[in-house]
Amino acid sequence: MFSLVPRGRHIIRLCDSPPCHLAGAWSLLAALREELGIGVGETTPDGLFTLELTGCLGVCGVAPAMMIDDEVYGNLDPERLREILADYREAG
Ligand code: FES
Repeated sequence: MFSLVPRGRHIIRLCDSPPCHLAGAWSLLAALREELGIGVGETTPDGLFTLELTGCLGVCGVAPAMMIDDEVYGNLDPERLREILADYREAG
């Protein structure tokens, strides 16, 4: 998780392991790309978010899941994802 290039204030790690993938992680990735305007490995121009994929987060029971910084979110759908991002944007 060490990086030589500057990253965003918040690091989004979307689980891409099979259970989350089968539970719809692909639709979350599409929503993240659309909402953030960046691809995997990139950082938003405002420096707020960096988007990454990761292996199993250990919460397969609530797949699909992602982490933002140290916080884990499960049972996600694109609508809930947008609400979470809005909260982070509001908080700065
Ligand atoms: S496969 Fe995504 S949390 Fe386990």
